[in-house]
Amino acid sequence: MAGSVGQVSLPPVELAEFPILAQRVHGNRLAYLDNAATTQKPRSVIESMTHYYEHDNANVHRGVHLLSQRATDAFDAARVKLAQFIGAQNPNSVLWTKGCTEAINLVAQTWGLANLGPDKRILLSAMEHHANIVPWQMVAERTGVTITPIPVSDEGVLDIDWLRANLDETVALVGVKQICNALGTVNPIGEIATMAHAVGALILVDGAQALAHAPANVVADDLDFYAMSAHKAYGPTGVGALYVRPEILRDLAPYQGGGDMIRTVSWEGTTYNDPPNRFEAGTPNIAGVIGFGAALDFLTRIGIDRIHLHEESLLEYGTSALSAVPGLTLRGTAPCKAAILSFTLDGIHPHDLGTLLDGHGVAIRSGHHCCMPLMKRLGVPATARASLAVYNTQQDIDQLVFALHEAKRVFA
Ligand code: ALA
Repeated sequence: MAGSVGQVSLPPVELAEFPILAQRVHGNRLAYLDNAATTQKPRSVIESMTHYYEHDNANVHRGVHLLSQRATDAFDAARVKLAQFIGAQNPNSVLWTKGCTEAINLVAQTWGLANLGPDKRILLSAMEHHANIVPWQMVAERTGVTITPIPVSDEGVLDIDWLRANLDETVALVGVKQICNALGTVNPIGEIATMAHAVGALILVDGAQALAHAPANVVADDLDFYAMSAHKAYGPTGVGALYVRPEILRDLAPYQGGGDMIRTVSWEGTTYNDPPNRFEAGTPNIAGVIGFGAALDFLTRIGIDRIHLHEESLLEYGTSALSAVPGLTLRGTAPCKAAILSFTLDGIHPHDLGTLLDGHGVAIRSGHHCCMPLMKRLGVPATARASLAVYNTQQDIDQLVFALHEAKRVFA
Protein backbone atom coordinates (compact mmCIF):
# COMPACT_ATOMS: atom_id res chain seq x y z
CA MET A 1 0.00 0.00 0.00
CA ALA A 2 1.89 3.08 1.19
CA GLY A 3 5.28 1.82 -0.02
CA SER A 4 4.05 1.53 -3.60
CA VAL A 5 3.69 5.29 -4.11
CA GLY A 6 6.19 8.16 -4.06
CA GLN A 7 7.92 9.48 -0.98
CA VAL A 8 6.75 12.58 0.90
CA SER A 9 9.14 15.48 1.40
CA LEU A 10 10.31 16.17 4.95
CA PRO A 11 8.33 18.90 6.75
CA PRO A 12 9.98 22.32 6.43
CA VAL A 13 9.61 22.75 10.24
CA GLU A 14 11.04 21.06 13.32
CA LEU A 15 8.23 18.94 14.82
CA ALA A 16 9.59 19.92 18.27
CA GLU A 17 8.28 23.43 17.55
CA PHE A 18 4.80 21.98 18.17
CA PRO A 19 4.81 20.70 21.76
CA ILE A 20 1.38 19.06 21.49
CA LEU A 21 2.53 16.63 18.80
CA ALA A 22 4.91 14.82 21.15
CA GLN A 23 2.12 13.16 23.15
CA ARG A 24 0.75 9.64 22.80
CA VAL A 25 -2.95 8.99 22.24
CA HIS A 26 -4.43 5.70 23.46
CA GLY A 27 -0.85 4.39 23.62
CA ASN A 28 -0.01 5.35 20.01
CA ARG A 29 1.94 8.18 18.48
CA LEU A 30 -0.39 11.04 17.58
CA ALA A 31 -1.12 11.46 13.87
CA TYR A 32 -2.94 14.78 13.92
CA LEU A 33 -4.89 15.02 10.66
CA ASP A 34 -7.68 17.41 11.66
CA ASN A 35 -6.00 20.63 10.57
CA ALA A 36 -8.99 21.98 8.67
CA ALA A 37 -10.85 22.05 11.99
CA THR A 38 -7.93 23.72 13.75
CA THR A 39 -4.16 23.68 13.40
CA GLN A 40 -1.74 23.04 16.25
CA LYS A 41 0.25 25.98 17.57
CA PRO A 42 4.00 26.48 17.34
CA ARG A 43 5.84 27.36 20.54
CA SER A 44 6.46 30.90 19.22
CA VAL A 45 2.69 31.57 19.10
CA ILE A 46 2.10 30.15 22.58
CA GLU A 47 5.03 32.12 23.99
CA SER A 48 3.93 35.39 22.36
CA MET A 49 0.66 35.23 24.28
CA THR A 50 2.31 34.16 27.53
CA HIS A 51 4.79 37.02 27.14
CA TYR A 52 1.93 39.49 26.71
CA TYR A 53 0.18 38.30 29.88
CA GLU A 54 3.42 38.13 31.89
CA HIS A 55 4.87 41.47 30.81
CA ASP A 56 2.54 43.76 28.86
CA ASN A 57 -1.04 42.99 29.90
CA ALA A 58 -3.01 46.25 29.59
CA ASN A 59 -5.83 47.60 27.47
CA VAL A 60 -5.06 49.03 24.02
CA HIS A 61 -5.70 52.52 22.63
CA ARG A 62 -6.78 53.71 26.09
CA GLY A 63 -3.83 54.18 28.43
CA VAL A 64 -0.81 56.48 28.50
CA HIS A 65 1.14 54.18 30.80
CA LEU A 66 4.02 52.04 29.54
CA LEU A 67 2.20 48.71 29.67
CA SER A 68 -0.68 50.07 27.62
CA GLN A 69 1.76 51.53 25.09
CA ARG A 70 3.57 48.19 24.74
CA ALA A 71 0.28 46.30 24.40
CA THR A 72 -0.96 48.83 21.81
CA ASP A 73 2.30 48.62 19.83
CA ALA A 74 2.14 44.80 19.66
CA PHE A 75 -1.58 44.88 18.79
CA ASP A 76 -1.12 47.44 16.01
CA ALA A 77 2.00 45.66 14.69
CA ALA A 78 -0.06 42.52 14.11
CA ARG A 79 -2.43 44.51 11.89
CA VAL A 80 0.51 45.67 9.76
CA LYS A 81 1.77 42.05 9.51
CA LEU A 82 -1.62 40.75 8.37
CA ALA A 83 -2.05 43.55 5.83
CA GLN A 84 1.38 42.74 4.36
CA PHE A 85 0.62 39.01 4.38
CA ILE A 86 -2.50 39.43 2.22
CA GLY A 87 -1.15 42.26 0.08
CA ALA A 88 -3.43 44.98 1.49
CA GLN A 89 -1.91 48.40 0.95
CA ASN A 90 -3.50 50.03 4.00
CA PRO A 91 -3.37 48.22 7.39
CA ASN A 92 -6.51 50.13 8.39
CA SER A 93 -8.48 48.11 5.83
CA VAL A 94 -7.99 45.06 8.11
CA LEU A 95 -10.53 44.71 10.95
CA TRP A 96 -10.10 42.34 13.90
CA THR A 97 -13.01 40.04 14.59
CA LYS A 98 -13.51 37.00 16.78
CA GLY A 99 -13.16 34.71 13.79
CA CYS A 100 -13.99 34.17 10.14
CA THR A 101 -17.65 33.64 11.05
CA GLU A 102 -17.90 37.05 12.70
CA ALA A 103 -16.10 38.61 9.76
CA ILE A 104 -18.81 37.38 7.37
CA ASN A 105 -21.59 38.35 9.79
CA LEU A 106 -20.08 41.84 9.94
CA VAL A 107 -20.37 42.17 6.14
CA ALA A 108 -23.93 40.81 6.18
CA GLN A 109 -25.12 43.08 8.98
CA THR A 110 -23.46 46.27 7.71
CA TRP A 111 -23.03 46.23 3.94
CA GLY A 112 -25.78 43.63 3.45
CA LEU A 113 -28.56 45.39 5.34
CA ALA A 114 -27.66 48.71 3.71
CA ASN A 115 -27.44 47.49 0.12
CA LEU A 116 -29.72 44.49 -0.39
CA GLY A 117 -33.41 44.33 -1.18
CA PRO A 118 -36.05 42.26 -3.02
CA ASP A 119 -34.71 43.42 -6.40
CA LYS A 120 -31.22 42.03 -5.67
CA ARG A 121 -29.62 38.58 -5.80
CA ILE A 122 -26.72 36.94 -3.97
CA LEU A 123 -24.91 34.02 -5.61
CA LEU A 124 -23.16 31.68 -3.15
CA SER A 125 -21.15 28.63 -4.15
CA ALA A 126 -22.93 25.38 -3.31
CA MET A 127 -19.87 24.33 -1.33
CA GLU A 128 -20.10 27.22 1.15
CA HIS A 129 -19.63 26.72 4.87
CA HIS A 130 -22.70 27.45 7.00
CA ALA A 131 -20.87 30.63 8.06
CA ASN A 132 -21.26 31.99 4.54
CA ILE A 133 -24.87 30.85 4.12
CA VAL A 134 -26.75 31.49 7.35
CA PRO A 135 -25.74 35.18 7.81
CA TRP A 136 -27.13 35.85 4.32
CA GLN A 137 -30.34 33.94 5.04
CA MET A 138 -30.77 36.14 8.11
CA VAL A 139 -30.30 39.23 5.94
CA ALA A 140 -32.70 37.79 3.34
CA GLU A 141 -35.41 37.49 6.01
CA ARG A 142 -35.10 41.23 6.63
CA THR A 143 -34.45 42.55 3.11
CA GLY A 144 -36.13 40.10 0.73
CA VAL A 145 -32.89 39.52 -1.23
CA THR A 146 -32.80 36.24 -3.19
CA ILE A 147 -30.00 33.70 -2.53
CA THR A 148 -29.07 31.29 -5.33
CA PRO A 149 -26.42 28.54 -5.08
CA ILE A 150 -23.74 28.25 -7.78
CA PRO A 151 -23.74 24.55 -8.76
CA VAL A 152 -20.88 22.19 -7.96
CA SER A 153 -19.97 19.03 -9.95
CA ASP A 154 -19.73 15.51 -8.48
CA GLU A 155 -15.95 16.05 -8.29
CA GLY A 156 -16.43 19.22 -6.26
CA VAL A 157 -15.67 21.76 -9.01
CA LEU A 158 -17.58 25.02 -9.14
CA ASP A 159 -19.59 25.53 -12.36
CA ILE A 160 -17.96 28.68 -13.70
CA ASP A 161 -19.98 28.54 -16.95
CA TRP A 162 -23.20 28.58 -14.91
CA LEU A 163 -21.88 31.55 -12.96
CA ARG A 164 -20.99 33.44 -16.15
CA ALA A 165 -24.44 32.78 -17.58
CA ASN A 166 -26.24 33.87 -14.41
CA LEU A 167 -24.37 37.05 -13.59
CA ASP A 168 -26.28 40.23 -14.42
CA GLU A 169 -26.85 43.64 -12.87
CA THR A 170 -29.35 42.23 -10.35
CA VAL A 171 -26.50 40.35 -8.63
CA ALA A 172 -25.15 42.39 -5.72
CA LEU A 173 -22.72 39.88 -4.26
CA VAL A 174 -20.90 36.68 -5.15
CA GLY A 175 -19.74 34.66 -2.12
CA VAL A 176 -17.22 31.87 -2.45
CA LYS A 177 -14.69 30.08 -0.30
CA GLN A 178 -11.13 30.10 -1.53
CA ILE A 179 -10.41 26.52 -0.43
CA CYS A 180 -13.22 24.13 0.39
CA ASN A 181 -12.81 22.83 3.95
CA ALA A 182 -14.87 19.72 3.18
CA LEU A 183 -13.31 18.69 -0.16
CA GLY A 184 -10.13 20.69 -0.68
CA THR A 185 -11.24 22.33 -3.96
CA VAL A 186 -9.33 25.51 -4.73
CA ASN A 187 -11.64 28.04 -6.37
CA PRO A 188 -10.42 30.58 -8.98
CA ILE A 189 -11.18 33.67 -6.89
CA GLY A 190 -9.40 36.14 -9.18
CA GLU A 191 -11.41 34.98 -12.19
CA ILE A 192 -14.64 35.08 -10.20
CA ALA A 193 -13.85 38.60 -8.97
CA THR A 194 -13.36 39.80 -12.55
CA MET A 195 -16.65 38.25 -13.61
CA ALA A 196 -18.54 39.71 -10.62
CA HIS A 197 -17.12 43.19 -11.08
CA ALA A 198 -18.04 43.18 -14.78
CA VAL A 199 -21.74 43.34 -13.78
CA GLY A 200 -21.20 45.65 -10.80
CA ALA A 201 -21.40 42.91 -8.14
CA LEU A 202 -19.02 42.65 -5.18
CA ILE A 203 -17.11 39.54 -4.17
CA LEU A 204 -16.73 38.13 -0.66
CA VAL A 205 -14.15 35.38 -0.23
CA ASP A 206 -14.07 33.09 2.80
CA GLY A 207 -10.33 32.59 3.23
CA ALA A 208 -10.49 30.50 6.42
CA GLN A 209 -8.88 27.40 4.88
CA ALA A 210 -6.52 29.31 2.63
CA LEU A 211 -4.57 31.68 4.87
CA ALA A 212 -2.00 29.06 5.96
CA HIS A 213 -1.77 27.28 2.61
CA ALA A 214 -2.30 29.70 -0.28
CA PRO A 215 -3.36 33.13 0.98
CA ALA A 216 -5.09 35.55 -1.38
CA ASN A 217 -3.48 38.77 -2.48
CA VAL A 218 -6.45 41.05 -1.98
CA VAL A 219 -5.20 43.60 -4.52
CA ALA A 220 -4.04 41.19 -7.25
CA ASP A 221 -7.17 39.07 -6.79
CA ASP A 222 -9.26 42.27 -6.68
CA LEU A 223 -11.33 41.26 -3.64
CA ASP A 224 -13.93 43.41 -1.90
CA PHE A 225 -14.20 41.37 1.32
CA TYR A 226 -11.75 38.71 2.54
CA ALA A 227 -12.63 36.85 5.77
CA MET A 228 -9.93 35.05 7.78
CA SER A 229 -9.45 32.92 10.83
CA ALA A 230 -6.28 32.74 13.00
CA HIS A 231 -6.76 29.29 14.46
CA LYS A 232 -6.63 27.55 11.07
CA ALA A 233 -3.33 29.31 10.40
CA TYR A 234 -1.33 28.22 13.49
CA GLY A 235 -2.75 31.09 15.57
CA PRO A 236 -5.10 31.08 18.56
CA THR A 237 -8.85 30.50 18.59
CA GLY A 238 -11.25 33.40 19.12
CA VAL A 239 -9.62 35.81 16.69
CA GLY A 240 -9.98 36.45 12.99
CA ALA A 241 -10.02 39.34 10.58
CA LEU A 242 -11.87 40.95 7.72
CA TYR A 243 -10.28 42.86 4.88
CA VAL A 244 -12.59 45.41 3.27
CA ARG A 245 -11.70 47.33 0.12
CA PRO A 246 -10.93 50.86 1.41
CA GLU A 247 -13.48 52.59 -0.86
CA ILE A 248 -16.25 50.38 0.61
CA LEU A 249 -14.96 50.58 4.17
CA ARG A 250 -14.93 54.39 4.21
CA ASP A 251 -18.74 54.61 4.08
CA LEU A 252 -19.63 51.41 5.92
CA ALA A 253 -21.97 51.87 8.91
CA PRO A 254 -20.79 50.53 12.29
CA TYR A 255 -21.38 46.91 13.27
CA GLN A 256 -21.54 47.03 17.08
CA GLY A 257 -21.64 50.01 19.42
CA GLY A 258 -19.33 50.55 22.39
CA GLY A 259 -15.94 51.85 23.43
CA ASP A 260 -13.19 52.68 20.92
CA MET A 261 -15.60 52.81 17.97
CA ILE A 262 -16.78 56.35 18.79
CA ARG A 263 -15.34 59.84 18.45
CA THR A 264 -17.87 61.63 20.69
CA VAL A 265 -20.89 60.45 22.66
CA SER A 266 -23.65 62.64 24.12
CA TRP A 267 -27.34 62.15 24.88
CA GLU A 268 -28.05 64.03 21.68
CA GLY A 269 -26.12 61.55 19.56
CA THR A 270 -22.83 59.87 18.76
CA THR A 271 -20.17 60.39 16.14
CA TYR A 272 -18.13 57.44 15.02
CA ASN A 273 -14.42 56.80 14.80
CA ASP A 274 -12.61 56.10 11.54
CA PRO A 275 -11.98 52.52 10.42
CA PRO A 276 -10.65 50.21 11.71
CA ASN A 277 -11.68 51.40 15.23
CA ARG A 278 -15.25 52.06 14.04
CA PHE A 279 -15.68 48.29 13.71
CA GLU A 280 -13.87 47.18 16.86
CA ALA A 281 -16.19 48.08 19.73
CA GLY A 282 -15.10 47.02 23.20
CA THR A 283 -11.87 45.54 24.48
CA PRO A 284 -10.58 43.26 21.74
CA ASN A 285 -8.89 39.86 22.07
CA ILE A 286 -5.50 41.51 22.59
CA ALA A 287 -3.54 38.35 23.39
CA GLY A 288 -5.25 36.61 20.47
CA VAL A 289 -4.30 39.35 18.02
CA ILE A 290 -0.69 39.23 19.26
CA GLY A 291 -0.73 35.44 18.86
CA PHE A 292 -2.15 35.87 15.34
CA GLY A 293 0.78 38.18 14.59
CA ALA A 294 3.22 35.52 15.84
CA ALA A 295 1.50 32.93 13.63
CA LEU A 296 2.01 35.21 10.61
CA ASP A 297 5.70 35.54 11.58
CA PHE A 298 5.88 31.73 11.69
CA LEU A 299 4.27 31.39 8.24
CA THR A 300 6.55 34.07 6.82
CA ARG A 301 9.65 32.42 8.31
CA ILE A 302 8.80 29.01 6.82
CA GLY A 303 7.52 30.53 3.57
CA ILE A 304 4.21 29.79 1.87
CA ASP A 305 6.00 28.31 -1.16
CA ARG A 306 7.80 25.69 0.96
CA ILE A 307 4.60 24.94 2.86
CA HIS A 308 2.75 24.52 -0.42
CA LEU A 309 5.36 22.17 -1.88
CA HIS A 310 5.33 19.96 1.21
CA GLU A 311 1.55 19.81 1.41
CA GLU A 312 1.34 19.04 -2.30
CA SER A 313 3.66 16.09 -1.79
CA LEU A 314 1.53 14.91 1.18
CA LEU A 315 -1.61 15.23 -0.94
CA GLU A 316 -0.15 13.23 -3.80
CA TYR A 317 1.06 10.48 -1.49
CA GLY A 318 -2.16 10.46 0.54
CA THR A 319 -4.37 10.35 -2.56
CA SER A 320 -2.51 7.29 -3.88
CA ALA A 321 -2.41 5.58 -0.50
CA LEU A 322 -6.11 6.09 0.24
CA SER A 323 -7.18 5.15 -3.29
CA ALA A 324 -5.57 1.76 -2.73
CA VAL A 325 -7.78 0.98 0.29
CA PRO A 326 -10.57 -1.37 -0.88
CA GLY A 327 -14.05 0.14 -0.53
CA LEU A 328 -12.76 3.68 -0.01
CA THR A 329 -14.22 6.49 -2.15
CA LEU A 330 -12.49 9.86 -2.22
CA ARG A 331 -15.00 12.71 -2.09
CA GLY A 332 -13.69 15.80 -3.86
CA THR A 333 -11.31 15.14 -6.71
CA ALA A 334 -11.04 18.59 -8.29
CA PRO A 335 -7.92 19.01 -10.44
CA CYS A 336 -6.96 22.06 -8.39
CA LYS A 337 -6.99 20.83 -4.79
CA ALA A 338 -5.46 21.64 -1.43
CA ALA A 339 -4.23 18.95 0.99
CA ILE A 340 -7.62 17.76 2.22
CA LEU A 341 -8.66 14.11 1.80
CA SER A 342 -12.37 13.56 2.33
CA PHE A 343 -13.66 10.02 1.94
CA THR A 344 -16.23 7.39 2.75
CA LEU A 345 -15.54 3.71 3.42
CA ASP A 346 -18.08 1.08 2.46
CA GLY A 347 -19.91 -0.40 5.41
CA ILE A 348 -18.58 1.97 8.09
CA HIS A 349 -20.28 5.24 9.00
CA PRO A 350 -17.80 8.13 9.08
CA HIS A 351 -18.55 8.74 12.77
CA ASP A 352 -17.71 5.11 13.67
CA LEU A 353 -14.62 5.41 11.54
CA GLY A 354 -13.51 8.52 13.42
CA THR A 355 -13.79 6.67 16.73
CA LEU A 356 -11.95 3.61 15.42
CA LEU A 357 -9.12 5.72 14.00
CA ASP A 358 -8.83 7.64 17.26
CA GLY A 359 -8.11 4.32 18.95
CA HIS A 360 -4.99 4.14 16.75
CA GLY A 361 -3.90 7.69 17.60
CA VAL A 362 -5.22 9.11 14.30
CA ALA A 363 -7.22 12.33 14.68
CA ILE A 364 -9.53 13.10 11.75
CA ARG A 365 -12.91 14.83 11.51
CA SER A 366 -16.12 13.02 10.62
CA GLY A 367 -19.36 14.77 9.79
CA HIS A 368 -20.82 17.34 7.43
CA HIS A 369 -17.95 19.78 8.05
CA CYS A 370 -20.48 22.63 8.47
CA CYS A 371 -21.45 22.13 4.79
CA MET A 372 -24.81 20.38 4.96
CA PRO A 373 -26.00 21.63 1.51
CA LEU A 374 -22.78 20.30 -0.05
CA MET A 375 -23.19 16.88 1.59
CA LYS A 376 -26.76 16.75 0.26
CA ARG A 377 -25.49 17.64 -3.23
CA LEU A 378 -22.93 14.81 -3.05
CA GLY A 379 -25.56 12.39 -1.74
CA VAL A 380 -23.73 11.50 1.47
CA PRO A 381 -24.74 12.29 5.05
CA ALA A 382 -21.14 12.84 6.10
CA THR A 383 -17.54 12.10 5.18
CA ALA A 384 -14.37 11.25 7.05
CA ARG A 385 -11.75 13.91 6.46
CA ALA A 386 -7.98 13.92 6.84
CA SER A 387 -6.69 17.47 6.47
CA LEU A 388 -2.95 18.06 6.29
CA ALA A 389 -0.61 20.74 7.53
CA VAL A 390 3.03 21.76 7.43
CA TYR A 391 4.10 19.37 10.23
CA ASN A 392 2.47 16.24 8.80
CA THR A 393 4.66 13.40 7.57
CA GLN A 394 4.49 10.28 5.46
CA GLN A 395 4.33 8.36 8.75
CA ASP A 396 1.07 10.14 9.64
CA ILE A 397 -0.52 9.00 6.38
CA ASP A 398 0.85 5.47 6.75
CA GLN A 399 -0.65 5.38 10.27
CA LEU A 400 -4.01 6.50 8.84
CA VAL A 401 -3.93 3.81 6.15
CA PHE A 402 -2.96 1.14 8.70
CA ALA A 403 -5.82 2.25 10.97
CA LEU A 404 -8.28 2.14 8.03
CA HIS A 405 -7.33 -1.48 7.33
CA GLU A 406 -7.75 -2.27 11.03
CA ALA A 407 -11.19 -0.59 11.04
CA LYS A 408 -12.25 -2.69 8.06
CA ARG A 409 -11.05 -5.83 9.87
CA VAL A 410 -13.15 -4.92 12.95
CA PHE A 411 -16.26 -4.27 10.83
CA ALA A 412 -15.78 -7.24 8.49
N1 ALA B 1 -15.06 24.59 9.67
C1 ALA B 1 -14.18 23.77 10.43
C2 ALA B 1 -13.96 22.42 9.77
O1 ALA B 1 -13.98 22.34 8.58
C3 ALA B 1 -14.52 23.67 11.85
O2 ALA B 1 -13.74 21.44 10.46
